[in-house]
Amino acid sequence: MSSPDINEDDIALVTEILRSGQLSIGPYLEKFEALIADYVGARHAVAVANGTAGLHLCMRLAGVDDGGEVITSPFSFVASANCILYERGKPVFVDIDEESLNIDTRLVEAAITARTRAILPIHVFGQPADMDRLNAIATRHSVTVVEDACEALGSEYKGRKVGTFGQAAVFAFYPNKQMTTGEGGVVVTDDPEWAKALRSLRNQGRAEMGGWLTHDRLGFNYRLDEMSAGLGVSQLSRVESLLGQRSAVAARYHEALKRIPGVRPIMPCGGTTRMSWFVYVVRLDDGLPREDIAQHMAAQGIPTRNYFPPIHLQPFYRRDYGYRPGQFPIAERVSATTLALPFHGRLNDQDIERVCDGLARAINAVAPACAGAAV
Ligand SMILES: Cc1ncc(COP(=O)(O)O)c(C=O)c1O
Repeated sequence: MSSPDINEDDIALVTEILRSGQLSIGPYLEKFEALIADYVGARHAVAVANGTAGLHLCMRLAGVDDGGEVITSPFSFVASANCILYERGKPVFVDIDEESLNIDTRLVEAAITARTRAILPIHVFGQPADMDRLNAIATRHSVTVVEDACEALGSEYKGRKVGTFGQAAVFAFYPNKQMTTGEGGVVVTDDPEWAKALRSLRNQGRAEMGGWLTHDRLGFNYRLDEMSAGLGVSQLSRVESLLGQRSAVAARYHEALKRIPGVRPIMPCGGTTRMSWFVYVVRLDDGLPREDIAQHMAAQGIPTRNYFPPIHLQPFYRRDYGYRPGQFPIAERVSATTLALPFHGRLNDQDIERVCDGLARAINAVAPACAGAAV
């Protein structure tokens, strides 16, 4: 489905770090943080072990407590709601907009209560959420906004990079992301108090000036090691080229898919002035049997994924929190009709043709009524 873009410079730098003997809390962590802050346009960056850890710390700092509510989207990777549960908070799901696939800002205000602690929009698949409207609502109700930008490094909303709109934002660098650190994530914020607290929380609750075995608060081990930070430094030095390659692959997919009836790519929309492509997802027309198409493609050796099953319908959300089908109809409908195709920056024209031919063949085989998909 995806493949990290690792070059000889990445390998050389990580090897050098291994040889240095300083494998944690070293110069590359600081370098990586400074470079990310500069790239995103935020005052502070605090690197963490993964995106989920970053979101968890933000929920803690936003004051999410037992029963504290956080308004978010059900159409996302499960971690964006789990981070609320870690603090015994309650994810308050709001349905999505059918075009952007992001939280429907028209429904957000009605979901705010006296217990609302935060709004957590997700820039899903790299498409920025409507941050102007969300921030206006948040300001009216004095609620904290945290951006889940895990899928959106480099995306721009109305000409400005995501990660600069909320009180804080989280990026993630798992190997399927636009750039990778292996496992890894970063929280960016303009607030020096948040930055200080994040540094303490990720480091077992140690204070900035305290001793190694003095713990100011209950913290976590959410540190990012030096090899990961070094890989991040190396990857970030060519991030624009990585994003450019992914964008070119997406453009080739758009072209190749035009000949396949019933298949619609997800396109930049609304305030998106730059889409940083995380995955390449298409929507299938109603009536096209997604599972059969995916199976037919798998039989041809082409993997696909149903990004994303709605979070509220995950087995433990249904079992432990009582969610059921029908509560968020748009997210559920979108979820049933989306298919992620293999995607990374080094797919060539031949690879893309092969995937699109495979998709056309699958549709012709399982839905002959939609035949006409040119193979
Ligand atoms: C929207 C979203 N939030 C959070 C995460 C969690 O990031 P990580 O896997 O680094 O913990 C991901 C990762 O895929 C994600 O896509």
